[in-house]
Amino acid sequence: MTTNPGSRGNRSAHDPGASDPHGHRPVLLDEIVELLAPVSGESVVDLTAGRGGHAVALGAPVGASGVLTLFDRDQTNLAYACVRVSAMPSAPRVQAVHADFRSIGLMMPTGTPPANAVLADLGFASTQVDDPARGLAFSHDGPLDMRLDPTRGETAAQLVARLDERELADIIFHYGEDPFARRIARNIAQTRARVPISTTGQLASLVRESYGARAAASRLHPATRTFMALRIAVNDELGALEGLVAAVRDAALAAASGSPTWLAAGARVAVMSFHSLEDRIVKRAFAQMIEAGWADSLTRKPVEASPTEVGVNPRARSAKLRAIRLAR
Ligand SMILES: C[S@@+](CC[C@H](N)C(=O)[O-])C[C@H]1O[C@@H](n2cnc3c(N)ncnc32)[C@H](O)[C@@H]1O
Repeated sequence: MTTNPGSRGNRSAHDPGASDPHGHRPVLLDEIVELLAPVSGESVVDLTAGRGGHAVALGAPVGASGVLTLFDRDQTNLAYACVRVSAMPSAPRVQAVHADFRSIGLMMPTGTPPANAVLADLGFASTQVDDPARGLAFSHDGPLDMRLDPTRGETAAQLVARLDERELADIIFHYGEDPFARRIARNIAQTRARVPISTTGQLASLVRESYGARAAASRLHPATRTFMALRIAVNDELGALEGLVAAVRDAALAAASGSPTWLAAGARVAVMSFHSLEDRIVKRAFAQMIEAGWADSLTRKPVEASPTEVGVNPRARSAKLRAIRLAR
């Protein structure tokens, strides 16, 4: 696993990412603007608007003659990013879509010009993990929720109550790569037979208990990997990414054959991931498009954060940025 779950699953008040005035420090900002290179009048799509850090930087060069379409599963973040971007001098026309980015092929607002530049900055924003009510962090007690879109879908508490012990172990092992996955799953199954597991605090102490004496030797909080794994499962994050790359692939094929689609010929598409399973999906999908002649690579190797950026924002440590440009 190339991710550093500690830097993402347990952000705390001392994390400089949280001290950004907008609640989230955008990762690889200059590199993303350089790769996507938006220019005046273009149509830009930020599929993960978050707190609007990348959106502002991508929207500024587009100017008043351009269009900036923002997606987010989280209505609060989406509204925040929209207000922030709209307040820029010479702001582009801003459109907001409250949706999972996997449905980009269907959800682009009618009349939107085909996108010239698209960004997906995967995962969650600092504001989400810092809010105990969202149940994403084990560092503060709250309801065991974990949904990026709290208006729909199953919560982590419901998932933990529904899955059988083996399914739980598989999730914790495959998405979290926790060597104690089976022991944790057994402990969850035994505990929930007595009492429902409904808070982050309950789950965190149950995982710590499962580690036994090894908890003291663990570099990360023992619950780091379990929380990350459940978050990925609750939000079907890998399924969403598979849906997104399929939509990009379909659009790249359509663009290459001159059919109208949501991506413009020559469009630049960048995806930044924080987990090796995500990066694998992006790497494979981009390689297929390049092999088919529908796109060129803009990143020979994935772009990673410099030690200076990681020093300021530990969250950047596991970022991997890949980008392609569709054929003209
Ligand atoms: C890392 S943050 C983005 C931060 C943003 N780039 C910024 O500069 O503020 C990821 C955002 O994407 C959203 N998100 C995650 N998965 C999503 C999906 N499948 N569809 C739409 N939004 C998603 C999260 O709710 C979160 O607000």
